[in-house]
Amino acid sequence: MEEKEEVEEKRPLLRLGEKAPDFEAVTTHGKIRLSDFKGKWVILFSHPADFTPVCTTEFVGFAQINDELVKRNVQLIGLSIDSTFSHIAWIRKIKELFGITIPFPVIADLDMKVANLFGMIHPGESTTAAVRCVFVIDPEMKLRAMIYYPINVGRNMQEILRLIDALQTADKYKVATPANWKPGDDVIVLPPATQEAAEKRLQEGYECIDWFLCKKKLSTQSPNF
Ligand code: BEZ
Repeated sequence: MEEKEEVEEKRPLLRLGEKAPDFEAVTTHGKIRLSDFKGKWVILFSHPADFTPVCTTEFVGFAQINDELVKRNVQLIGLSIDSTFSHIAWIRKIKELFGITIPFPVIADLDMKVANLFGMIHPGESTTAAVRCVFVIDPEMKLRAMIYYPINVGRNMQEILRLIDALQTADKYKVATPANWKPGDDVIVLPPATQEAAEKRLQEGYECIDWFLCKKKLSTQSPNF
């Protein structure tokens, strides 16, 4: 019991807005470091295990959105607690069954080094497999979004693309995006920070429901590539 508490205490807490921890790992594309991808957006995602049904549908899904991600300067990196040989055999099986090539590197994290670094092992779900995590890391290696799904629910690829579009749009235009936003929709003007700015807000030509909830159209419609 004491030992467990000590391990949990040592686990770094990842926080949005902070630098993602760098690592070196063995992958299906050879050795990589996270910092090799500095200057690109990275989606580091984990799956519980090779040759399992939900993970297979997700790998097909990630491969299918890869071209759209590349257009947005995003590099996918997969991870599971499986060997490189297992990854290679599964990737070959996916090609055989679905005609789909997995174009991104997949980390063979047998010692759980990267999984523990990023908090991908959730013992309530499994002590030997990663849950379904998605870490979005920006070109300066800052952690910008985290999604965690349980082992029995596959992720939504369109939501992952939408998240990238929303983050890139927010950065480019210094705006925020409302619930269910998709590229082409109006965006939210950042709320005024002072009373004086709040007074002015309603005269600035935005579509306002009230001073704190104003939207505008983007002159160039997203996506941003
Ligand atoms: C699946 O992806 O289907 C799966 C993964 C781990 C355990 C059971 C099922």
